[in-house]
Amino acid sequence: MIELSRQQDGSTDTTAFAKDVAKGLSQKQKSLSSRYFYDGTGSRLFQQIMELPEYYLTRCELEVLTENKQDMAEQFSNGGFFHLIDLGAGDALKTKILLKELSGQQSAFDYVPVDISGDAMQELSESLQQELPQVKVEAVVGEYFRALEWLQENKSERKVVLFLGSNIGNFEQEESINFLRSIRSYLQTGDQLLMGIDLRKDPETILKAYNDAAGVTAAFNLNLLHRINRELNADFDVSQFCHHAIYNPLEGVMRSFIVSKTDQDVRIGKADITIHFEAWEAIHTENSYKYSIPLIGELGQQCGFKIETVFYDSQKRFADVLFSVL
Ligand code: AVI
Repeated sequence: MIELSRQQDGSTDTTAFAKDVAKGLSQKQKSLSSRYFYDGTGSRLFQQIMELPEYYLTRCELEVLTENKQDMAEQFSNGGFFHLIDLGAGDALKTKILLKELSGQQSAFDYVPVDISGDAMQELSESLQQELPQVKVEAVVGEYFRALEWLQENKSERKVVLFLGSNIGNFEQEESINFLRSIRSYLQTGDQLLMGIDLRKDPETILKAYNDAAGVTAAFNLNLLHRINRELNADFDVSQFCHHAIYNPLEGVMRSFIVSKTDQDVRIGKADITIHFEAWEAIHTENSYKYSIPLIGELGQQCGFKIETVFYDSQKRFADVLFSVL
């Protein structure tokens, strides 16, 4: 397993977290980055979200991969040996469908899962050793770009990059452009990108996926305050905040907020700051952008990619789009 250090400026994770939280909560319109959802508790809550009846995204993508694995594996393997690079691999539940197919087809490849969580990469390496011992695995712990940089220096062969799970949706438009352009800068002719995107659909369906009846998404969102209490020595009374999520069909974006139910002050010890909340003042915590195929094609083209194949689920709620490089 390769461990790439997280902070290039030498600061610790906690210092960077404290700085980001202080900055986000000092703005006129308060915000916190959704990047910080995924501590141990947040990751467990996200696993529960993926099993909710309302959260169709994971089930749809599993269907897309299961129904199209043969075609996908053949398209990946067309140019000979390749590194299969899985950005944000986690437990690789979905990728394992492709890994099994690729190894059944005797494809020449190795698997490079990349994730910020060292524990997740350790567990994944062990589970693959058990389930698919014939697949060569080199897990990388670190930020996506540090991992791509490392790959650039160490591996010159063909690359197929996976960016599944609609993770692109959590980036602002400009961030997605920067992100895809950076990925493109590490790729060459013959390389490919398979990206999962949540498609625009009935707003009610989308709304329910982020406002589930059991309240798991609310707990996931509010865990951010618990995390700040735990890690930054803060005194948020979490019962005095609530989850709110709205879908804007004009922009195709689901936005999530944490709303203060009362007028209150919160002390964040490690950031050495006190934040005042007006009653019903909101903290913006997440964007989940939804795409159409023309929009994703346009985004890809702006970043040097061309759509090769679009794979849909049976209800056309979700798509995995295979791009080649322009
Ligand atoms: C990780 N990401 C694609 C999820 C999404 O749908 O935007 C995170 C999530 N937020 C609330 N529910 C799920």
